[in-house]
Amino acid sequence: MKTLIAFQDPFGQLPEAASTFAEGVDGLFNFMFVVSLFFFGLILAVLLWSAVRYRRKSDDQLAASNVTHNTGLEVVWTLIPTVIVMVIFAWGWKGNLDQQKAPADARGYNVQGFKWAWRVWHPGENDLSQFAANEIWCEVDQPVRVTLTSEDVLHSFYVPAFRQKRDLVPGLRQLVWFQPTRLGDYHLFCAEYCGDQHSQMRGVVHVVTAEEYAAGPWKPDIPEDPIARGEYWYNKQGCNACHSLDGTARVGPTWLGLFGKQGKLAGGADYVADADYIRESIREPNAKKPAGYENLVMPAYGPDMLKDEAVDDIIEFLKTLK
Ligand code: CUA
Repeated sequence: MKTLIAFQDPFGQLPEAASTFAEGVDGLFNFMFVVSLFFFGLILAVLLWSAVRYRRKSDDQLAASNVTHNTGLEVVWTLIPTVIVMVIFAWGWKGNLDQQKAPADARGYNVQGFKWAWRVWHPGENDLSQFAANEIWCEVDQPVRVTLTSEDVLHSFYVPAFRQKRDLVPGLRQLVWFQPTRLGDYHLFCAEYCGDQHSQMRGVVHVVTAEEYAAGPWKPDIPEDPIARGEYWYNKQGCNACHSLDGTARVGPTWLGLFGKQGKLAGGADYVADADYIRESIREPNAKKPAGYENLVMPAYGPDMLKDEAVDDIIEFLKTLK
């Protein structure tokens, strides 16, 4: 396996290769790189040679000739690049077609991007509130089809080791597929600048054996204790992307000391962060924004994403953050 990768990446520029697409993408990449190196060397050599060979040797030297064109040369430097570019086009087109159509037996995943995390529904998972946060489990050598949606802005689903990347466009369903070929954990990046915490929008793709996959490692392990459960939802639902627990300023107000806090709303009215206020702020974040957060955009968490009991858990958890 090691020697295969060394062969696929002779210049040490590529991420590890872990899907069936890697061979084609890397082959084309290496071809383009070698062609570029060759012409860089050739052009530089001719340039330097000409500069020395035909340099002006004295101040009063006149031009030796007055060449306007050379048909043979122009045909050659048009035809050769055209052939090379057509090879690149055909190679890329073939690879692109292969990536468009998932095999019929591919397992269907749903992945949603939002500022700034990933929600993943594994095959057969239909409960919207039950998803894996920032983690995808795939079985090795099994094709995977992913339906991509965005909750808010443009994001981009990018797994370098799989040579797969596709933008998530609000209001549009995008499809990608891949077939992992090696066990291991691989980076999932957001590759489209999507705001403040874009660089934190990362995930992991776990490629596991058939036995590990059958055990359903993504199945939620929800704590029994309401306070622990509140913290679980905090991490799971991505609240942590905008709200710190230790007073650190993030996009939204910190949760430290939030429960029971009194202050002014953006409109000037008083508010108390009691249970009702928190419930409302989760369901309808724009209803009562505190002063200083007028421009904050928080997605509304409806009961399909966060059940009433989960909101109660979060309130219990908030009460402990003093
Ligand atoms: Cu999402 Cu960058």
